[in-house]
Amino acid sequence: MPKPPHTPIEIGLDIDPDDLGQRDLYKLVCGLVVPRPIALTTTMSVNGVVNAAPFSFFNIFSERPAVVALGLNSKPDGSIKDTTRNIRETGEYVIHVVTQSIAEKANVCATEFPSDMSEIDIARFTLKPSLVVSPPTIAEAPVALECRLMSITPLSPVRNIVLGEVVRIRTAPGIVDPERFHVDISAYRPVARLFGNLYARLGELFELKRLTYSEWQDKEATKAAKETDSVQD
Ligand SMILES: Cc1cc2nc3c(=O)[nH]c(=O)nc-3n(C[C@H](O)[C@H](O)[C@H](O)COP(=O)(O)O)c2cc1C
Repeated sequence: MPKPPHTPIEIGLDIDPDDLGQRDLYKLVCGLVVPRPIALTTTMSVNGVVNAAPFSFFNIFSERPAVVALGLNSKPDGSIKDTTRNIRETGEYVIHVVTQSIAEKANVCATEFPSDMSEIDIARFTLKPSLVVSPPTIAEAPVALECRLMSITPLSPVRNIVLGEVVRIRTAPGIVDPERFHVDISAYRPVARLFGNLYARLGELFELKRLTYSEWQDKEATKAAKETDSVQD
């Protein structure tokens, strides 16, 4: 097919996803829906082999039940990923939110090693027992969410959405105030996936107060009064 003429970035984009090939659509939607948190996920096979892999099609969608979703694709050759197989067979997994402290090691776990090589050993992670699920927890991870499978929804022959209920929440000292459950974000330092090989640390924080309707009305009234005053001046 002849290459379309080069179009400059200045003209913007307005496109039907069906008009894009799979690779371009992946680049586009993954590049636009950012930043994404990363779930370094440990699972255990029915034979007891522990697996770890990072996934950025990940987020939390409900707090009671506390439900997290993972988007798990097949391997490039179409075969199922170890994580998907293990979750399907055992119904349990542990999600570690990737932080600056473990980002490089988590990335090592994304390499498709032969099945007799352990990502955990190669990345030099240490395992410790989880509290309510069988797959172990990564000791170096500041935050671990122990999960039980709720459902696996196939989106296509090679893509599944996995919903899991968080059944235990563990954090390292210094991350969460255990009385008020405030998170110390500067101690936590989660990392975001952007696209390709790009990641981001949290930048400058800012606050936006969400107003009640009556607060909004008061604010608007004050603004209107100021405008009237300045017209009369
Ligand atoms: C930062 C990062 C995010 C990733 N996100 C996903 C994802 O959301 N879904 C997916 O299927 N693979 C994702 N991958 C690729 C998997 O980590 C990779 O295929 C891994 O080898 C799967 O391991 P497993 O076969 O042991 O489950 C990601 C890789 C990296 C480095």
